[in-house]
Amino acid sequence: MRRPHALLLPYPAQGHIIPLLELAQSMHINHGFTVTFINTHFNHARLFSTFPPSQSTATNPSFNFVSIPDGMQPGDDHNDIAKLCNALKTFMPLSLEQLITKMNNQEHDKPTCFIADQGMGWALDVAKKTGLRSAVFAASSATTFTSVWNIPNLIEQGIINERDGSAKRPGQVFRLSPGTPPMNVDNLSWNCFLNSESNKIIFQYVYANNKAMKNVEYVIFNSFYEAEKEIFDYLNSSNMLHIGPLLSKQTSPVPFARCFWAEDKTCKAWLDKQRDDSVIYVAFGSLAMLDQIQFEELALGLELTGRPFLWVVRPDITGKISICLPEGFSDRIGDRGKVVEWSPQQEVLPHPALACFMSHCGWNSTIEGLSNGVPFLCWPYFADQHQNQTYVCDVWKTGLKVMHDENGLITKEEIRDKVEQLLGDGEIKKRALALKEIAIKSVEKGGSSFENFNTFATAFKHNV
Ligand code: UDX
Repeated sequence: MRRPHALLLPYPAQGHIIPLLELAQSMHINHGFTVTFINTHFNHARLFSTFPPSQSTATNPSFNFVSIPDGMQPGDDHNDIAKLCNALKTFMPLSLEQLITKMNNQEHDKPTCFIADQGMGWALDVAKKTGLRSAVFAASSATTFTSVWNIPNLIEQGIINERDGSAKRPGQVFRLSPGTPPMNVDNLSWNCFLNSESNKIIFQYVYANNKAMKNVEYVIFNSFYEAEKEIFDYLNSSNMLHIGPLLSKQTSPVPFARCFWAEDKTCKAWLDKQRDDSVIYVAFGSLAMLDQIQFEELALGLELTGRPFLWVVRPDITGKISICLPEGFSDRIGDRGKVVEWSPQQEVLPHPALACFMSHCGWNSTIEGLSNGVPFLCWPYFADQHQNQTYVCDVWKTGLKVMHDENGLITKEEIRDKVEQLLGDGEIKKRALALKEIAIKSVEKGGSSFENFNTFATAFKHNV
């Protein structure tokens, strides 16, 4: 029998590459797959610039990284998601087909299956054409996946417009099915980009992906049953399997480049010096941005809390060339606060010094925080993050929202007050710890995500 060989294609963003790598590594280490991980040229260069290839793939010939062009032009802004989606769907299918055809013609180690990120649904047509079995990996929540999956129903029920996915009645609250948590039509992921033109392009992109996914063999989710019980009950399908939470500690040590920015390893020593349950961890993932006024207000808010904080300030967080903290801030804060460009987040979240997580509620941050029993202060930015916030605050009740004032600012007083409210609420912490136990159990031997992973991996190993 041939060794199974999986090709994996993430949507080209940090928050998709990380969980797909965790999936790839688990398939490799725990289930014996050879893996080829397909990045775009642009991201491949970024990842390997922070991690010398000599320490990664060279030592493992059965875990390979390859890259193909994303169709963007020199000088194009890769954070312009609408432009990127247009480029991907126009130019990438051909490069992908050429890559797979070349690999199919190899003497040894031909690919046997293909896993596409939900955000690259179009690639399933390429897999079919090149003779590969395929699955979809949902990097967002099962709820977000299901809202995309249900686009035809939402159109038919008169909830959204077919032309651009916009709300027929802004603010309308509906349910994907009776029994699933209420959703606000304005929070549907494609309605939460930066302007209506971007929303429309992204809606058309996800709708086309959705159509390509209809006959896929498996959909796998980085989630667990109890986190989105009602949605999994609604999907109720033997080929839609939750296999999460996927965390790097299940497959560590991580032997390859996974981040666009180098992780600041001094976080651990700083956290070790702090009291248990004292630190506010602040991180907004890889894409969220704050304008300079909001950025400074956040700094002043952290100062006002009087508590220790670990704050991830990506070099591009304000969209400017250099970061500008409020005057005198660093001197006033001293060692009470630590500001880093990028943290080893999955090592930070389990640290006993952590008290809460101020987060943009990207799905990875959400599921990572949940798996570590950390209460959230939710500050969503775009895409699926508003929906994830709803789960944290209204369904799991393991966090609080920060609210904008009448000028659209989250003030320093609001930050201080919400931190106090969150940390003074023992019930939130209790619920967070209870959910952590459930999350951990689900990926342990005998747990439902563990068993689902086996089902999926076994199915994809057969008939190769
Ligand atoms: C994006 C979208 O914004 C998100 O809504 C979607 O669900 C997935 O893709 P991103 O904004 O980057 O992701 O956020 P998130 O999903 O939280 O992913 C960020 C990843 O980077 C996490 O795995 C987190 O552990 C990691 N990270 C973040 C670090 O390792 N260090 C940091 O300092 C910050």
